[in-house]
Amino acid sequence: MNPRYRKPMIAGNWKMNMLASELKAYADALKPASVPAKWCETLLCVPAPLVPGAARAFKSCRVAVGGQNLSEYASGAYTGEISGPMLRDAGAEYVIVGHSERRAMFGETDEEVNRKVKAALDCGLKPVICVGETRAQKMLGVTAELVTLQLRAAVSGLTVREAKQLVVAYEPVWAIGTGMSSTPEEVEQVASVLRAVIRRTYGAAVARGTRILYGGSMNEKNASELLAQPDIDGGLVGGASLHPDKFAQIIAAARGE
Ligand code: 13P
Repeated sequence: MNPRYRKPMIAGNWKMNMLASELKAYADALKPASVPAKWCETLLCVPAPLVPGAARAFKSCRVAVGGQNLSEYASGAYTGEISGPMLRDAGAEYVIVGHSERRAMFGETDEEVNRKVKAALDCGLKPVICVGETRAQKMLGVTAELVTLQLRAAVSGLTVREAKQLVVAYEPVWAIGTGMSSTPEEVEQVASVLRAVIRRTYGAAVARGTRILYGGSMNEKNASELLAQPDIDGGLVGGASLHPDKFAQIIAAARGE
């Protein structure tokens, strides 16, 4: 982390877990860990039906709420889809775009990710853009090239003002949900590649201010050493974010405790 230029962010991704009836207990358990917004930004990306309840429940803990996906369209005849303006209206400030589970299981392409990033920005949602390589791609040694292509495509055609809203998450696919996180050194290497992509596309000032999170089996035990790297500005936490005590410990790690 480099708190001089970037406020750390600890984000949770609940994926398709939790119910509205569980929000209050979670918020009560997390409350003691909530931190003044100036030290660390905390975000929970919840299933869409939980956004309004989560926005209410987490307000007093100063935890922002985000969606996990959005339609590339603002409205229309798209049965079952959820638009950015709907998420915004329900209380979301952020939205995850291009998570590997959506790329792998729902066929999201780099071009679609780019359209979704623009759809999010158009309605005032801040995108958390996910990139990352599979195990096979890692073995082939193409991680840097792959994440460069993914990020370049995702951020193409934005204004500098829009680019300043972005959060980037490096999530190696092989590390997600496996209990095997990448090493701090490996993550730092990829994070610096990603920052260079932003620098080349939108200039040094935007790159310096862009938060790059790590995701993939981040937990209360490995968070400190991952967050100690200069280009890792926080985490996108899956499994551990379902447990308020573990999530609280990761927030504490971001504060250097
Ligand atoms: P895990 O923390 O469960 O590995 O999930 C990471 C993730 O996919 C967050 O978006």
